Amino acid sequence: MKAIILAGGSGTRLYPVTLVINKHFLPIYNKPMIYYPLSLVMLLGIKDVIFVVNPSDLNTFKSMFGDGSKLGMNIQYVIQNKPNGLAEGLILAEDFIKDDTVCYILGDNIFFGHDIVKIMKQAKEEVEKNGGAYVFGYYVKDPERFGVVEFDEEGNVISIEEKPKKPKSNYAIVGLYFYDKEAVEIAKNVKPSNRGELEITSVNEEYLKKGKLKVKLLGRGFAWFDAGTHDSFLEAGEFVATIEKRTGLMIGCIEEIAYKNGWITKDQLLELAKPLKKTDYGKYLLEIAGE
Ligand code: G1P
Repeated sequence: MKAIILAGGSGTRLYPVTLVINKHFLPIYNKPMIYYPLSLVMLLGIKDVIFVVNPSDLNTFKSMFGDGSKLGMNIQYVIQNKPNGLAEGLILAEDFIKDDTVCYILGDNIFFGHDIVKIMKQAKEEVEKNGGAYVFGYYVKDPERFGVVEFDEEGNVISIEEKPKKPKSNYAIVGLYFYDKEAVEIAKNVKPSNRGELEITSVNEEYLKKGKLKVKLLGRGFAWFDAGTHDSFLEAGEFVATIEKRTGLMIGCIEEIAYKNGWITKDQLLELAKPLKKTDYGKYLLEIAGE
């Protein structure tokens, strides 16, 4: 399986903060927002990643991650010229995905919870083995901000709607999707929505129509943030700070995960820690390396 991380968009909901800077570079507590979705992909054992980026941000992304070799990964980039919607990311990444399955994650989504990696790995394996699509629902107070999934009494999915005015449930579809190789073709046939975007919800609806969509609910004990508004951005940062201080462990520490995955050596980890050593982040990396 390969991964697409969507890191384009105009970030209008974070204006004026994001008038001149891409939101994915902003700090969620002690590290850039983009580290969080990347770290989840890494925890799933996926080494091949493509970032979908705005033309003006390409060089910044390249200076941040290069070709991925510093993390023992293969990282590529593709430009999205305009924020035409999430489904376009699949089309843009077509040559990269080829015939593989794909994990698609949004650059501003942050996940935390007991067993989250286990649950996501099950979804990954399910799609690798049996195809189809696998998505997750999460109970929220403001479902009208998201893609919303409706269930019948037996828990079967009846509908999925993008930002409905009158949501049929409180379950938002989170920004992490697993797809088989059909997703690209499905995305190519999506028509722009009322807000003029190629919606990922339309891709999911198509899988639903074919009876190939699995939805798993993330219950209590999971935290999910779409850090794309002023409030959720701040809440995500406070959450990460609280958990990290309490547990002494970092969330979204890409260097640690690369090392623990066996993708980089101790010497490589020490090299990555060197410029950071004045910070707790750098000290944490040194500790991981046993220095
Ligand atoms: C997007 C999706 C929506 C999903 C959300 C999760 O919304 O369109 O279905 O629930 O991400 O973060 P957007 O960020 O484009 O408003």
